[in-house]
Amino acid sequence: MVKNLVTMSDLSKEEVYELIERGLQLKNGAKALERKDLFVANLFFENSTRTKHSFEVAQKKLALNLINFEASTSSVNKGETLYDTCKTLEMLGIKILVIRHPEREYYKKLSTLNIPIISGGDGSGEHPSQCLLDLMTIYERFGKIEGLNIVIVGDIKNSRVARSNYNILTRLGAKVRFICPDIFADETLGQRVEFDEVISEIDVCMLLRVQHERHDGSAIFDKEDFHKNYGLNKERYVKLKDYAIVMHPAPVNRGVEIADELVEADKSVIFEQMRNGMFMRQAILEKIIKDNNL
Ligand code: CP
Repeated sequence: MVKNLVTMSDLSKEEVYELIERGLQLKNGAKALERKDLFVANLFFENSTRTKHSFEVAQKKLALNLINFEASTSSVNKGETLYDTCKTLEMLGIKILVIRHPEREYYKKLSTLNIPIISGGDGSGEHPSQCLLDLMTIYERFGKIEGLNIVIVGDIKNSRVARSNYNILTRLGAKVRFICPDIFADETLGQRVEFDEVISEIDVCMLLRVQHERHDGSAIFDKEDFHKNYGLNKERYVKLKDYAIVMHPAPVNRGVEIADELVEADKSVIFEQMRNGMFMRQAILEKIIKDNNL
């Protein structure tokens, strides 16, 4: 039973596999739940292309009644708190909120609300729906997650994608290691390795966006230097196994995390991740509706 989906810790291993299977069924044409009577709203207090719009498509495919909330024109600009905004929407009869907010664990302030929350990202905390679409993409390709050799590369410290994926991939039995410069390291997460020492062992090469908007400007960052030492270039790409996959949550800094010409190379599943995101978000919404008896 899942009341909210704000961290991957909200899900058991069985629930993760249930969501992956359902996402794949929907991708293969299974009929989705239809609930014209349910009002839902998406509250994005940070920019988004993929998460916001794939939730919107997913909601329309489930025939949900989507309220158009725009943070920039709401009373948030008059000082309304996040709690008061969400409580107002609850009183108006909205049944599910999808929220992206820059504050880590913002959802703890909303724990007394009687309305399920799906997080679209909480600062550098977690990004559960992105993580689930990543898992669906990995499972779709390999038919399993346990035992896979996975590296997460780049700006680990500021990445909610890294935290969510590390949480669940290790629980599901994958071997997860990190590749990053010292300035982007998070020592609370797992083992760090050198890209060129492990390149030929990797099944899944998960690149992360360098998140300039979360940097405080104290560390020196050189794009060319990062690309040379931590980017996926042609020399590294050809050393990957034939069946390895290259992932990136996007948006991509072309020429930084990955060479421009590799973004759509054969081993890249970057755009397939985005397509899978729409089906996974349908699966998540269906589960939240069923588990909360909405
Ligand atoms: N991957 C991801 O979260 O993309 P957006 O920021 O465009 O939603």
